[in-house]
Amino acid sequence: MAGLIPQQFIDDLLDRTDIVEVIDGRVALRKSGQNYSGLCPFHNEKTPSFTVSQSKQFYHCFGCGAHGNAIGFLMEFDRMEFPQAVEHLARQAGVEVPVERSANPEKKKKQDSLYDQLQKAQDFFSQQLRQHPSKERAINYLKGRQLTGETAKAFAIGYAPPGWENLRETLSKSEKDEQQLIEAGLLIKREDRDGCYDRFRDRIIFPIRDNRGRTIAFGGRVLGDDKPKYLNSPESPVFHKGNELYGLYEARQASNRLSRFLIVEGYMDVVALAQHGIHYTVATLGTSASEAHLNKLFRMVPEVIFCFDGDNAGRKAAARALDTALPILEDGRQVRFLFLPEGEDPDSLVHQEGKDAFEQRLNQAMTLPDYLFAAVSDGLNLDNLDDKARMSKLALEKMQPMPRGMLYELMIQQLAQMTGLSTDNLKETAAKGDGASASTS
Ligand code: UTP
Ligand code: MN
Repeated sequence: MAGLIPQQFIDDLLDRTDIVEVIDGRVALRKSGQNYSGLCPFHNEKTPSFTVSQSKQFYHCFGCGAHGNAIGFLMEFDRMEFPQAVEHLARQAGVEVPVERSANPEKKKKQDSLYDQLQKAQDFFSQQLRQHPSKERAINYLKGRQLTGETAKAFAIGYAPPGWENLRETLSKSEKDEQQLIEAGLLIKREDRDGCYDRFRDRIIFPIRDNRGRTIAFGGRVLGDDKPKYLNSPESPVFHKGNELYGLYEARQASNRLSRFLIVEGYMDVVALAQHGIHYTVATLGTSASEAHLNKLFRMVPEVIFCFDGDNAGRKAAARALDTALPILEDGRQVRFLFLPEGEDPDSLVHQEGKDAFEQRLNQAMTLPDYLFAAVSDGLNLDNLDDKARMSKLALEKMQPMPRGMLYELMIQQLAQMTGLSTDNLKETAAKGDGASASTS
């Protein structure tokens, strides 16, 4: 079965996996020089001869000779089969194992033809932007939004012309095509009679691409004020919006030395920021960021900044993002929050003030601890003892899902400073709140 998972996928997966993280959850490791070491889980020993190399992404035991990569470790230690180990790491990385793994040539063929149809659709949309009689409207719209041809090209932006059956007539040559185009979300079955019509009509088209650059879905924006403003492809066998981020592929194309990601709300925000040289932006697809989204980004960079509008909806979204981020805040992962002035979004701001000023804002974005403490003391007066007590309680409750690492420890210390309570007292209260995992130490 092993041969059925594409080697490229396995290589990518190992690239994004940190073997130290994988093993550290299972064997106690200590940093020693460049490497990590611990007691070998594969033979009995009293002094550590098991080492894990972060740079080489291998483990090796000088005692018993056990040796391998992250996949090998899971197979040996957790007794997983190869596909199961790949599946496990893929889940951690927030990516889908390509279906080839199913050893089901039928399914793979089906999936391949969906990718084909989606690519043909993308070609159709970009051709329409160049050739359709009403292309000027689309081009003028894009110009009005200050998009350059170069940016449009980098994001493969296209145009779905007005009319009900343009794409259908071009791409659907058989019953089978039609079935696939429906499955890919491009055509919709008519209810009143036989046949189908185009989902995307008279809209600017933003292809959504996966890690490998394959088009898996589309977003479409109206040119005017019609509703809904944006239309997105529905979930399909190749598109799961809880996993995918708009702009991620393009960001990785633009730079192979990414050090942070900015998460924004809209397609146009990603595109406008990229045009101004801020290439490390991604957007969720009409949903809030999921744990899988964050894990996916943190496999590539140590820092993620959320960007929110300065209005009520933005504040609510930030509170949700905080709750999503807290459980996965292992040490070394930094999350920050940027609140924009009311009435602005990244698209409008970056056009107004340019790259440097916008990046200045990013560099001053609120840290997660600052945001958390500000959020829980909202409306409280920390000069009052009872408000301090209330704030401590709320903060500890909020922090409860966090991994108990250095960041947690430092936040407890800060909370102690803010409230005048001792760290011991706070930890005791936190431990009670942990319920089952409560400890008296
Ligand atoms: P916004 O409504 O905030 O608009 O949608 P925007 O990104 O500023 O759009 P422009 O600048 O007017 O073009 C933010 C995101 O929410 C999703 C889309 O992903 C959009 O990019 N959305 C919005 C929808 O899915 N459907 C909608 O009708 C509106
Ligand atoms: Mn906007």
